[in-house]
Amino acid sequence: MSKEKVIIFDTTLRDGEQAPGASLTINEKLEIAHQLVKLGVDVIEAGFPVSSPTQFEATRLCAEQVSGAVICGLARANANDIEAAGEALKAAPKRRIHTFIATSPIHMEHKLRKKPDEVLKMAVAAVQCARQFTDDVEFSPEDACRSEMTFLYEILAAVIEAGAATLNIPDTVGYILPYEYGQIIAKLKANVKGIDKAIISTHCHNDLGVATANSLAGVRNGARQVECTINGLGERAGNAAMEEIVMTIQTRQGFFGGNVTTNINTREIYRTSQLVSQLTGFVIQPNKAIVGGNAFAHESGIHVDGILKHRETYEIMTPEMIGLSGSRMVLGRHSGRHGFVDRCKQLGYNLSEKEIQAAYEKFLEIADKKKEIFDEDIAAIINDEVRMVEQLYHLEYLNVTSGTGTLPTGAVKIRMQDGNIVQAAACGDGPVDAAYEAIRQATGQSPKLDNYSIRAITGGKEAMGEATVQIKNEAGRTFIGRGVSTDIIEASAKAYIDAINRMVASAGNNEDEKVTL
Ligand code: KIV
Ligand code: ZN
Repeated sequence: MSKEKVIIFDTTLRDGEQAPGASLTINEKLEIAHQLVKLGVDVIEAGFPVSSPTQFEATRLCAEQVSGAVICGLARANANDIEAAGEALKAAPKRRIHTFIATSPIHMEHKLRKKPDEVLKMAVAAVQCARQFTDDVEFSPEDACRSEMTFLYEILAAVIEAGAATLNIPDTVGYILPYEYGQIIAKLKANVKGIDKAIISTHCHNDLGVATANSLAGVRNGARQVECTINGLGERAGNAAMEEIVMTIQTRQGFFGGNVTTNINTREIYRTSQLVSQLTGFVIQPNKAIVGGNAFAHESGIHVDGILKHRETYEIMTPEMIGLSGSRMVLGRHSGRHGFVDRCKQLGYNLSEKEIQAAYEKFLEIADKKKEIFDEDIAAIINDEVRMVEQLYHLEYLNVTSGTGTLPTGAVKIRMQDGNIVQAAACGDGPVDAAYEAIRQATGQSPKLDNYSIRAITGGKEAMGEATVQIKNEAGRTFIGRGVSTDIIEASAKAYIDAINRMVASAGNNEDEKVTL
């Protein structure tokens, strides 16, 4: 029996990036998009072009440079949005316009202030308009799961007639439960006129923690596209996590009648998950399914004993399936440049000569302090040295004194992009606070610090520390920064400066927040 494909539609760069603080630069988006192609996703939703010049440019560059997947742009159901999406996508060999309008009574009455028949007309007109730019048009009735079923039958039949090839069924507010979501999909399959000409897609949010379960219930009832994000990134509690959906479909074939499959190369899952975590600054919780640090860790004696006797006693998937190699490769000072470059390639990094040089110099610096360098350290080095946002501020010098009976004091020298050095010294409640106060004084930037955390990247007393900070600008927009060092105060200072650099780089690009319906 030939298997039916479940199309994997990745919206990490669009819905995922709507997570507060997850803002990515255009280059970071391109890097993720290239990795998504390696992972084997079918459709990449690259952005919401009309919402800001950056979103437009990111979508345009994905369309121009990323081949191997359909590139999709989001548009509300109006000509202006659709034309912007069409324009941004025009270089893509395979392009899709995804247009949406809300269909639930609460959204139509209070947000759109429109009657159902007006909404239906707008949906049809939007699909017809999008068809002028591409044959591949997707339609979403926003808040579908709180909409009247009879209205859904009507509007979906009308947009199929108008030329929509994919019907996406969003649980926009993450309200529905798996049994109900499955029933909605089954009813749509049974009652929408012309449904055989279209693909039904799931799009589930995780407010009640059931986004993955809902998406899978959809697949079981006939949906053949799943919209999801890497690590479940997204607004509020996030979207359905791609890695969970793909690994469930693979691991529980029988549950899906043994006849569904995806194009995903599961061995790229871990690398993709790490990349998204590093670039967005969203740390993955250790107990996260599939990609969390503990997902394959066995500690209890009974489990370890069972695994050693027969792996499947306690393991339903292997770490190798998601690209985690069983053996840990260790580098050190004597591995040399060649060894370092080789390992970077094996880990999937495609670095230019200049980037290799910067990363290698940092590698040597760290190898002097830390005998064994693990893959996680290499990822952190590359993230820290190579994938920096445009750096207005660069930490040149840091000195912090603190101790019992001493007033914590920090002094910093910061090199500006134009080469000028600014410096300041300040006292604080502790060493990190003193360093942060000095940074605020030197840069003249004083964002609100919302969150600060530090973790060891690998085990052992020489482990590198990774600091993550979350700051807010005056407009209340969140930015996340990360910094890595064997010295945790330095890691903390670098993380703060990274967040400030991201904040400054995004200044003047707040249009995203002005988009309303
Ligand atoms: O959650 C949602 O309803 C969306 C739509 C734009 C598809 O993201
Ligand atoms: Zn969504």
